[in-house]
Amino acid sequence: MAAVAIVNQKGGVGKTTVALGLASAAWSRRRPSLVIDLDPQGNATTGLGVWDPAAGADEALAADRPGAVAELSVLSGWPDGDGNPPRVVPATDALTARESQLLADPIGAQDRLRIALSGAGEPLVIIDCPPSLGLLTVNGLFAADRVLVVTEPGAWASDGVGRILAAIERISARRPQALSVAGVVVNRLGRTRDARYWYEQLRSDHGELVLPPVRLRTALAEAAARSAPIHSLAPRSGAAEAAEDLDRIYDLVVGPEDGHGL
Ligand SMILES: Nc1ncnc2c1ncn2[C@@H]1O[C@H](COP(=O)(O)OP(=O)(O)OP(=O)(O)O)[C@@H](O)[C@H]1O
Ligand SMILES: [Mg+2]
Repeated sequence: MAAVAIVNQKGGVGKTTVALGLASAAWSRRRPSLVIDLDPQGNATTGLGVWDPAAGADEALAADRPGAVAELSVLSGWPDGDGNPPRVVPATDALTARESQLLADPIGAQDRLRIALSGAGEPLVIIDCPPSLGLLTVNGLFAADRVLVVTEPGAWASDGVGRILAAIERISARRPQALSVAGVVVNRLGRTRDARYWYEQLRSDHGELVLPPVRLRTALAEAAARSAPIHSLAPRSGAAEAAEDLDRIYDLVVGPEDGHGL
């Protein structure tokens, strides 16, 4: 199994868009996948066409036992036929209070998701994390075997990436197996000189970790709003380009075949 956590403590940089984009790449290749929505905002959940879920990630964290994720996952609302709809462990309102509940009962506060995830059958697990480095994200990082940092080509993005890489290193040192950094995705890359400048800054600071970018394409926002995989909106030009960018990242992070990359 490959389990990718998608992180950045900064909000609105495109974590959920990349998480849904990777799920869409798997969908279009008919590969089974599972998305775990660890963000109480629930944007991945609605982007996957799941509305008013009764239970989800909160209960998986509360359960603290193997198999809980598999029991709590539901089928997404993405179309069947052209692709293979992912399963999803949705975010519910209850997830908002989970972080403080984890703090109140610190035994296993960091690795409950890792335990709950064991026994999940899907070969690819995508974990969408909230915009913070709190215990929900830390649970995502303990459950994953690789991590993708998403950022934007904007002021101080590189410093933010540096901080999150340092946190990942500390978490990695506390795990039985190292957590590998699959890369840094620069999202929403536009054609402005400013965007180019910050992109080059990221490349000079983080070198080979910086993956090919995801370009600014409104089709990505539209796909999320329509609860549809971006690949289903191609061949319209903006959607096709976005799908192409995400396919490239999928190949680098998960692997072009059924092998699991890295
Ligand atoms: N490459 C892109 N081109 C155009 N719009 C984009 C792109 N990436 C993201 N967006 C839009 O930007 C907004 C923020 O993206 P997203 O929700 O993925 O960020 P996030 O990091 O998950 O945010 P949060 O920290 O709140 O969870 C959304 O409306 C999304 O549709
Ligand atoms: Mg998000």
